[in-house]
Amino acid sequence: MATEFDTRTEWFRSPRVWPLMVEHLRTRGRPVAVWSGACSSGEEAYSMAVTLDREGIDGTVYASDIDRRLVRTAEKGEYPRPQSPLLSDRDLHSYFAQVGRRYVVRSTIRDRVEFGTAELGVDTPPRCDIAMLRNVWRHLTEDAKEVAARAVADAIGPDGRLVLGGSDFFIQDADGTWRSLGDPTFRNATQADVNAASDTLPHALPALRAHFTPAEHPMIWRTRYP
Ligand SMILES: C[S@@+](CC[C@H](N)C(=O)[O-])C[C@H]1O[C@@H](n2cnc3c(N)ncnc32)[C@H](O)[C@@H]1O
Repeated sequence: MATEFDTRTEWFRSPRVWPLMVEHLRTRGRPVAVWSGACSSGEEAYSMAVTLDREGIDGTVYASDIDRRLVRTAEKGEYPRPQSPLLSDRDLHSYFAQVGRRYVVRSTIRDRVEFGTAELGVDTPPRCDIAMLRNVWRHLTEDAKEVAARAVADAIGPDGRLVLGGSDFFIQDADGTWRSLGDPTFRNATQADVNAASDTLPHALPALRAHFTPAEHPMIWRTRYP
């Protein structure tokens, strides 16, 4: 399928949410499952696989995207030099093999990730402790958002976490139009911002607010019902 979507992604995107995800996964006390449901070229899924390995947490990362070509790229696991404040030189050498100017994900990391093609709002998500569905909601129709949100709430259950991206939040301008916010807005978010997010600006999409409520950080939400 030819993609018309924004496919930009980063290694360890939105660095502040990663320690919070680790904290959540640590409470499980059993092998965990994390789903990267709009994985683009795979950096998000492999960032989580590196995190699990580094933290000694047993588990699987499920990674999917609507675009089969992107999933194939992700499966190859070959990138320009990964850059992130959360990835030390030591990590780089532990988790990637350098081949010329490219960095190939080592099998210890690759084997933790299961890739597939799946469409949000159509396909059933895997049961998981954390659903990372970041920077994808604006690509869905209103109906698909509703179906996907309901399915994700079921997939993560009452104590799971949904992790959103900066573009999944909106702010209402003085003239009434809704504008998407970017990551920088949330980099310095405080607990007060988290509390405010539930009933004042900024807002997640209505379909998300119907099923989820903010948890540890503005980008981390949990299901509304017990
Ligand atoms: C901006 S990228 C997000 C990548 C990553 N989640 C991140 O935040 O860095 C958006 C991705 O959503 C995918 N996408 C768009 N519609 C989708 C759908 N209905 N189901 C699954 N993936 C979809 C696109 O193919 C693209 O790879």
